[in-house]
Amino acid sequence: MLVVDFGAQYAQLIARRVREARVYSEIVPSTMPVSEMLARKPKAVILSGGPSSVYAADAPSLDRALLDAGVPVLGLCYGFQLMVRLLGGTVDNTGSREYGRTDLSVTKPDSTLFEGTPREQQVWMSHGDACSAAPEGCMVTAATDLVPVAAFEDDERRLYGVQYHPEVLHTTHGQQLLEHFLYRAAGLTPSWTTSSIVDEQVAAIRAQVGDKRAICGLSGGVDSAVAAALVQRAVGSQLTCVYVDHGLMRKGETEQVEKDFVAATGVRLRVVDASERFLRALEGIADPEDKRKIIGREFIRVFERAQAELVAEAGAAGADVAFLVQGTLYPDVVESGGGTGTANIKSHHNVGGLPEDLEFELVEPLRWLFKDEVRMVGQELGLPEDIVQRQPFPGPGLGIRIVGEVNRERLEVLREADAIAREELTAAGLDREIWQCPVVLLADVRSVGVQGDGRTYGHPVVLRPVSSDDAMTADWSRLPYDVLARISTRITNEVTGVNRVALDVTSKPPGTIEWE
Ligand code: XMP
Repeated sequence: MLVVDFGAQYAQLIARRVREARVYSEIVPSTMPVSEMLARKPKAVILSGGPSSVYAADAPSLDRALLDAGVPVLGLCYGFQLMVRLLGGTVDNTGSREYGRTDLSVTKPDSTLFEGTPREQQVWMSHGDACSAAPEGCMVTAATDLVPVAAFEDDERRLYGVQYHPEVLHTTHGQQLLEHFLYRAAGLTPSWTTSSIVDEQVAAIRAQVGDKRAICGLSGGVDSAVAAALVQRAVGSQLTCVYVDHGLMRKGETEQVEKDFVAATGVRLRVVDASERFLRALEGIADPEDKRKIIGREFIRVFERAQAELVAEAGAAGADVAFLVQGTLYPDVVESGGGTGTANIKSHHNVGGLPEDLEFELVEPLRWLFKDEVRMVGQELGLPEDIVQRQPFPGPGLGIRIVGEVNRERLEVLREADAIAREELTAAGLDREIWQCPVVLLADVRSVGVQGDGRTYGHPVVLRPVSSDDAMTADWSRLPYDVLARISTRITNEVTGVNRVALDVTSKPPGTIEWE
């Protein structure tokens, strides 16, 4: 099914909730022509909320043809108001805003979307305009104190709308409403399971790669590991994994990939030590976007060389290494502006950072999946827990955790500090509780300290522990003080050059998880 995105931060959440109901969903921008949406043959459509008023001059609109196509449509918030207007109902600019938790009274408890849910329920509202008259032929099914038409349905045309946000957890029966729409109104079945994802992806990879060969950049993280395992299942010996040691890895990471991942999957692995090359390319570079683009470019260059070597080794006979496997995830695609036309926040190294003269065709079997779904696929593929549950680590590695220029000396300092933080978090049993904990070296900042009897003039490191479900939003983790104290004491005692440890207490938004 399709989620039409009207610029809400909720569109991804809607897509996730639909997938939790075991129905495959994709997000499309509201600017996509309706003919293109219908060409995808959606079984159902949800119109998301959005920040605009339907009366604003530049308010995003919708071609009425989508409502006349016979496809079941559910409008939420802004999407609801658009439907009301297009179908001839009335949306008033009431001047009264409803925001946050609101009591909803269900007036038609036997209706398709509300059946089996309480007459009074709590919902999450966020709107200024309100619907005062439902479109002709549509039955009003719920109201609030301020809004006489908070939900409507027309079973004949299979058109539905609710003024509130069923996708957020504060709406107590929201998931049930979405499931009623999917199963009862649209007649879908909950068939999108991890084993169906694996089967579908294996078939798609076989169709794409054919009898050609592929290489996969392995980082040791869960994404590239699952992508590699999927491709291996699909095309087996046609795959060679390349692990690029760009010199920006954490302590012990390269050794771990060489040992554990190969043992778990049996993939053919080639380790390339390219640290010299990356560090040379990063010399004098402090701007985060420049760093990301350079790292992305160098990655591809190293792969291209690995490709040339593979071709040379295989001889002339059919050695056609044409594909590059990447563990790109759906949030990467959306955040890089590739999915929905949203703003470019950062160039993730495996999406926006690709050079234009790329010589590979990309295989991205996780391109439509969220992180938790990738983990489930990894489990389904039989990967060990410590790979599947590994915390995320960005492709550009420690390169984007040194604020300032990157060099060997600074990397060494950060590597030591990071190793201590990881060790202590693991010892405290907090690995599962936190999403990840970047350690950031403020290499261009110095502060005065005192150690022993002497003055020091060193650098601060910042701990950035976050909790999150999918990295799209995050909160800073409230780590126990004694754990923070141990990390701080150990880092300042054991890591030469660091004399201060700071804690980042910013959520995302407004901060991002990584500092660069
Ligand atoms: P931000 O900093 O955008 O990070 O809030 C969200 C999540 O993505 C990871 N991250 C990356 N992963 N390549 C990756 O593979 C990248 O370029 C990249 N940048 C950030 C980050 O660690 C967090 O989990």
